[in-house]
Amino acid sequence: NPEVFILAIESSCDDTAAAVLHNDKVLSNVVANQLIHNQYGGVVPELASRAHQQNIVPVIDAALRKANVQKEQLSAIAFTQGPGLMGSLLVGSSFSKSLSLALQIPLIAVNHMHAHILAHFIDEEGYDKPEFPFLALTISGGHTQIVKVNSFFDMEIIGETTDDAVGEAFDKSAKILGLPYPGGPLIDKYAQLGNPKAFVFTKPKVPGLDFSFSGLKTAILYFIQKKKQENPNFIEENLNDICASIQYTIIEILIDKLKLAVQQTGIKQIAIGGGVSANSGIRTRLKENPYGWKTYIPKFEYTTDNAAMIGIVGYQKYLSNTFETASVVSKARIQF
Ligand code: KG4
Ligand code: ZN
Repeated sequence: NPEVFILAIESSCDDTAAAVLHNDKVLSNVVANQLIHNQYGGVVPELASRAHQQNIVPVIDAALRKANVQKEQLSAIAFTQGPGLMGSLLVGSSFSKSLSLALQIPLIAVNHMHAHILAHFIDEEGYDKPEFPFLALTISGGHTQIVKVNSFFDMEIIGETTDDAVGEAFDKSAKILGLPYPGGPLIDKYAQLGNPKAFVFTKPKVPGLDFSFSGLKTAILYFIQKKKQENPNFIEENLNDICASIQYTIIEILIDKLKLAVQQTGIKQIAIGGGVSANSGIRTRLKENPYGWKTYIPKFEYTTDNAAMIGIVGYQKYLSNTFETASVVSKARIQF
């Protein structure tokens, strides 16, 4: 194989990220988070695109500097084509197109959801790469899917959410508890100190491998409203137990569907990816290798949005000569 240096750029939502890879090894992985959205309780698309515009040059400079790689050494530029917020995607794609034209190197378009799954193929000490075929559970702020991964670019969605994504379930529950956005990591933090069996929330009944989280959110809302009528300090006095119970319920919903997916496909290798795979509860639950599964849990820095995962897909596409022209378009929605 040739010596390949990929510059990868991710700008699908509210994080501006750049990474440099040497073949399947990550030399640098830089993320600029946009804290501006916290005060609005969610990502404001217009503000996100403006912040990407401000962050993208410094973030790319930092990634190249940390990798100790010159622009002239790059083999190709890989960027996130979608899915995501159109204004955010356009910043990354326009920049990538310009740089590929200026440096006269190939341009590679990457599906963000493929990248969350294929992040497992980054060469990292102590982390095994999955063998095909495997099942991937992608859990993020925008997606909840069970994917049958047959090869690098042959993937089938065999189950997905019919309403909210699991990250939204975390964030909306957090909002009900008065926690700032994004609340997922905070629920995780408090849950570690609480009793997961303290309160019982019923799991939704959804047929097959699909998910639904909007009913759970409503159940939590009614539960909290009722408890607050009895005791105005209910949240403050029980925050750890409430968070632990919510997190426990969400994890059980995910595990139930994984069990069914293993039963239906006969595949016992399971990889998780996406922002919610940072959750300590789900990581611990899967590390115990329940039910004889072989589980793949990404390194923490490759769970939430990052460009290293875009780079590893870029590397695979580079090896298979899958390049784009500058007329490639960004896609807010994208099919597998
Ligand atoms: O993959 P990601 O960074 O962005 C999207 O593509 O959506 O995922 C962000 C989501 C948010 O909903 C955030 O609350 C959630 O991942 N998240 C967590 C944790 N860390 C991030 N949810 C639960 N526990 C965590 N530790
Ligand atoms: Zn993501």
